[in-house]
Amino acid sequence: MNQATTKAASARPPQKLPRPNDACWCASGKKYKKCHQELDLEFAKEERKRLDLNRVKPGRISPMRSVPDSIAKPDYWKTGVPGRGTGRTVRTPEELVRMRHACTAAARILRKAGAFVKPGLTTDEIDAYVHELTIQEGGYPSPLNYRGYPKSVCTSVNEVICHGIPDDRKLVDGDIVNLDVTIFLEGMHGDTNATFFVGEVDEESKQLVRVTHECLMQGIAAVKPGRPINDIGREIERHAEQFGYGVVRAYCGHGISETFHAPLQIPHYYDPRSNTKMEVGMTFTIEPMIALGTWEESTWDDEWTAVTKDLKRTAQFEHTVLVTETGAEILTQES
Ligand code: CO
Ligand code: CO
Repeated sequence: MNQATTKAASARPPQKLPRPNDACWCASGKKYKKCHQELDLEFAKEERKRLDLNRVKPGRISPMRSVPDSIAKPDYWKTGVPGRGTGRTVRTPEELVRMRHACTAAARILRKAGAFVKPGLTTDEIDAYVHELTIQEGGYPSPLNYRGYPKSVCTSVNEVICHGIPDDRKLVDGDIVNLDVTIFLEGMHGDTNATFFVGEVDEESKQLVRVTHECLMQGIAAVKPGRPINDIGREIERHAEQFGYGVVRAYCGHGISETFHAPLQIPHYYDPRSNTKMEVGMTFTIEPMIALGTWEESTWDDEWTAVTKDLKRTAQFEHTVLVTETGAEILTQES
């Protein structure tokens, strides 16, 4: 091992690099280009190689699972094309009764699926389990054939931001995996997700997952009738930025009811244009996706799987909430 690589391996460059003629970050007093610049480029190349070796790769996807005739299905189950729904953002008391049933069922399924996660299990086996649990609840797994999505749950591992398709990849000790569960029950959708540890996970990932959950809870705490929707993203972004994390922008929370994705968009960053006022009786999801590095994403050729551009890890948590007189009620929890 030569001197240069020893130095490169031991000195982790800072996140924001100086410009070539600026002073080097190592406080040598030399210009950056005369000091650490070359080593930092080498370091970045090695880092990219390491991430590329460990990146999640597309696996084999099993045939679509079937749902018994006795289960009531959403309008898109055959065609893949969802209808427009009522277009309303506020639910009637009668609709809320059914929303509650769907949402508590989703929470139960997510808890059981999370307890099932372990090294060696394929994401397809998780899909089979969630599919079965959903039918046992008397519901239809909403993701199945929604706009052609081929599976009953989304399983997003490590750098996969969301919409990972279950396949024959085995979970590896140290992975983090998000399970996004939605059930269609009594004519309503209940949508919730969480990120789970696979075996022993490194400290960096543990903190990411903890902070992402905090982001969700702070977003929920910002829900108040009369306030604009962008209060939610502002709180989430403020918390994530304290840790230097990126807030994914390409995917938002959404209104939810008899349609899976109903009117209302809930950005998880501060967007001044999202100034619709929250109203008592609105139901929507909050589902921040928080990244260790960049918030920029790219999509696999399957046109579903979204990954971070820098292949660094990302986590997500989601609840379906109801706007009440005093704030928010989390619907996707077991009472
Ligand atoms: Co979801
Ligand atoms: Co959602």
